[in-house]
Amino acid sequence: MTLQTGPTFFSFPADALAQEAEVAAVVAGLMAEAPRVSPKYLYGPLGSRLFDAITELPEYYPTRTEKALLESCRDRVARATGPAPKLIDLGAGNCEKARSLFDALKPAQYVAVDISADFLRQSLSQLQRDFPHLEMLGVGSDFSSGLRLPDAVSRDNRLFFYPGSSIGNFTPEQALTFLAGIRDHCVGAHGGGLLIGVDLIKSEALLQAAYDDALGVTAAFNLNLLNNLNALIGSNFSVADWRHRALFNVEASRIEMHLEARRDLGVRWPGGARAFRQGQRIHTENSYKYALADFKALLERAGFSRIQSWTDDNNWFALCHAAI
Ligand code: AVI
Repeated sequence: MTLQTGPTFFSFPADALAQEAEVAAVVAGLMAEAPRVSPKYLYGPLGSRLFDAITELPEYYPTRTEKALLESCRDRVARATGPAPKLIDLGAGNCEKARSLFDALKPAQYVAVDISADFLRQSLSQLQRDFPHLEMLGVGSDFSSGLRLPDAVSRDNRLFFYPGSSIGNFTPEQALTFLAGIRDHCVGAHGGGLLIGVDLIKSEALLQAAYDDALGVTAAFNLNLLNNLNALIGSNFSVADWRHRALFNVEASRIEMHLEARRDLGVRWPGGARAFRQGQRIHTENSYKYALADFKALLERAGFSRIQSWTDDNNWFALCHAAI
C-alpha cells in the first residue's frame, strides 16, 4: 500500500471573461422584475460553515436522515457499486459523508469537488491524515454548469456521489441536464454509476421548520449571501436591511428562500443601482422535494438504469444508486 504524501489540489477558477459574465448575470438577476440570485452565492468561507451548522440543527432532518441511511445501507450500496470505485464526491464540503463510506466501498481513489476551494482544502487535508493510503484529489470548481475533472481521474468505474439532496437546488429541467452530464462522464467506460440522495415530499410544517430554524442559522446563511454579493459585484447591501423568508410552494413542490427588504431602500454597485420597496423580495434558493417514483423517472430520463433505492422509516429521504 502506498503512503500518500497528501491530497493533490486542482483549481478550475473562472477565467476573466467568465468572471465578467458572472457579474453581468448577477446584476441581471438583481435588476429583474422578480429579483433573483443563484443559490451558489450562499457559499464561501463563512457560508460553508453556516451550512455545516445548519446540518446540525434539530429541525434540519435531511443530513442526519441521510447519514443514518448511508450507515444502514452501506453494504447494499457496496454491492450495487461493485469493487474499488473511483469515488467522485460532488459538493464534498467537509467530506464527512464520503468518509462514512470508505470502509464499505474501499474506493481506489477519492476525488472531492467543491465550489468553496479553501474550505475543501482544509477538510481534505484532515481526511488524508486519517486515510494516509487512499489517493485523494481535491478539485475547486463550480460544477453546477458543467463538471471538469483532472486527467488523473481515469474513466473506468467512476462512482459519482451527490448526497444531501443538492439535486433539489436545481429545477427539474436543470436537474435532468445535470444528471445527463454526469452520465456522460461515465459512458464508454467500464462500469460506473451514481449514488445520490434526494429529499422527499413531506408535511409543510416539517419543511417550514427545517428552512426557518428557531436559532436563526438558516436566516444567517441566507443573509450572508448579501455579503458574498458585495464581494463579487462591489454592491453596498446592508444585511441589517433584510430579513430571511422561507415558504413552501406546494404547486412547484419546493421550499423557496427569499430575502425581504425591511424598508424602502436603494442598493448601488459600480455601474448600477436598484431601489427595493419595503417587503420586496430577492429569491435566493429553491429546494425541490420529490416523490420517489418521479425522481427515479428523472434518473431514467437522464439515461441511467438498474435504479435501486433505500428510504428511512418515515419516508423522508431516499438514497438511490443508478448504473450507467
Ligand atoms: C445544499 N442544499 C441541499 C440545502 C437544501 O436543503 O436545499 C441548502 C439549504 N438551504 C437552506 N438550508 C439548507
